[in-house]
Amino acid sequence: MKVTIDNITVEVPNGTTILQAARKIGGDVTPPAMCFYTPLKGSGGKCRTCLVEVSKGSEKDPRPMPKLVASCRTTVMDGMEIKSITSQRVLDARAGVVEFLLLNHPLDCPICDQAGECHLQDLSYEHGKNGTRYEFQRRTFKKRDLGQYIQLHMTRCILCYRCVFTADQVSEKRVHGVLDRGDHAEIATYIEKNLNNEFIGNVIDVCPVGALTDKTFRFKNRVWFTKPMTAHRDCDKCCGEVTLWMRGDEVFRVTARKDEWGEIKTSEKTGKTGWICNDCRFDKKKASDWTIEGLAPIDRHSVIGQGKYKGLKKPEETIEKVLDGRKPRLLMDIHSVSEVNNPAIELSEINGPATSAVFKKNNHE
Ligand code: SF4
Ligand code: SF4
Ligand code: FES
Repeated sequence: MKVTIDNITVEVPNGTTILQAARKIGGDVTPPAMCFYTPLKGSGGKCRTCLVEVSKGSEKDPRPMPKLVASCRTTVMDGMEIKSITSQRVLDARAGVVEFLLLNHPLDCPICDQAGECHLQDLSYEHGKNGTRYEFQRRTFKKRDLGQYIQLHMTRCILCYRCVFTADQVSEKRVHGVLDRGDHAEIATYIEKNLNNEFIGNVIDVCPVGALTDKTFRFKNRVWFTKPMTAHRDCDKCCGEVTLWMRGDEVFRVTARKDEWGEIKTSEKTGKTGWICNDCRFDKKKASDWTIEGLAPIDRHSVIGQGKYKGLKKPEETIEKVLDGRKPRLLMDIHSVSEVNNPAIELSEINGPATSAVFKKNNHE
């Protein structure tokens, strides 16, 4: 089927959703998706961040669709024409959805473990508006303990249901879900129970925000100070293919490998979604437990990718143009004097001398 999104035509197989067709094109035309998750059956249709305008229904019936549609749940028709970033209606609707998602959201980013890899941060930055019109007190929740591995911050949850689908489809038994409805709805276990199924750690990876975080990594480091490395081990429970988040030789966190859309990749070994088991995620925290393959490609526009992009295109230097052809008299180019963005250099090598230099300076040595 031929489908045109923001004037770019792409051919996709029958049954493809608008979101998947847009992902095939990539870049800015791809709608943001906070609840849809390809490996999870039934996901999508909850958050409305992926709204698009269908300006031509199909070749046979070219009438436009009157309302904006959720692109993750709408399949394409031959000859369909869609507007994503070229529609002001869509941009306004996205800004509205972001405003709703942030109504009760805390300003936790400075202390939130998800900061730097948070899809809500990206969404707010790219599609939100400055400021809030909300005048009421934000909603708070009773603290719930989910066991030794997973920390729940309910105030940060956007009720995308991904963790519920994951527990249903990946772990042996689901003991948590969304309790209550409306603005009382919350993620919880019915009677206080621990989330400790063999594969339950995957709920941390699918959570688009910092509502479910890894207790073994909590407050230990900021993700942009760590270096993501692809690694594997022989595991009899899962594919054993992971990303290690390291600093020097120390492994701070273990996660499944994710693609550019933040979704868990297909395992090279099994050909199925690369969910990882709790042993690999929470217990194997020594570099010697793993065969390290190399630097993990991070190609999202995130602070984690600092200096670790593959095929990075540098922007054109415009300063001479701005200065009418004159060269600047003094220009401090931090990248030419600092090794901080060089992925080949161990972070410990950078941190060591830098830290001791600061120490010496502070102690007037
Ligand atoms: S979940 Fe995201 S937006 Fe919310 S506090 Fe954490 S980093 Fe900030
Ligand atoms: S805890 Fe995370 S994954 Fe679960 S519903 Fe809330 S935002 Fe979604
Ligand atoms: S991603 Fe489509 S509704 Fe949430």
